[in-house]
Amino acid sequence: MDRGKLRIDRATRAEAPLLGELNLQLDEDEPHPYPLPLSALTERVTRWIETGEYEVLLFRRGERVTGYAVWRLEDRGAYVRHFFICRDQRRQGWGRAAMQLLRRDVFPKDRPVQIEAAIGNKAGIAFWHAIGFQDFGLSMELKAGDAPS
Ligand SMILES: CC(C)(COP(=O)(O)OP(=O)(O)OC[C@H]1O[C@@H](n2cnc3c(N)ncnc32)[C@H](O)[C@@H]1OP(=O)(O)O)[C@@H](O)C(=O)NCCC(=O)NCCS
Repeated sequence: MDRGKLRIDRATRAEAPLLGELNLQLDEDEPHPYPLPLSALTERVTRWIETGEYEVLLFRRGERVTGYAVWRLEDRGAYVRHFFICRDQRRQGWGRAAMQLLRRDVFPKDRPVQIEAAIGNKAGIAFWHAIGFQDFGLSMELKAGDAPS
């Protein structure tokens, strides 16, 4: 594997359908409690690309898409909302290499990088721990319609 071949490109409007598909796969792999249909995922990523609400980045090796990330700078640091490596390319070090590139070339160096993982996403959590992330908080929710007891 030649990690030097991985590059990060800012996504274009034309790539929104591809990103919608990858987002759908992400929601299958890290089951989302409130999943959106493909059309809504594509619309949302189109909005992010057009407005800059989030920066949407594609990881590529040559023409081959390896994964994608969605992030923005928030008060607390660089918040990575989506991070995804294509299923057929996992466990080859591309996730680690992509985070190293993001840290080197994209994220501000003087700010922390923050992610949120679903508590059931054992593989994702193992990945973040393996590359050096530390547990930070625990998100909780009260379901709509439920009253606090
Ligand atoms: C999580 C994800 C990004 C990891 O990408 P990847 O390219 O497979 O990760 P790497 O190959 O760089 O793995 C680096 C290390 O992380 C750990 N790791 C990665 N995947 C793992 C898994 N499924 N189970 C246990 N540990 C894992 C290992 O220690 C691995 O090193 P090793 O392969 O030498 O043992 C990828 O599985 C993915 O896109 N999953 C679906 C989306 C997702 O869950 N994103 C994160 C949301 S919080």
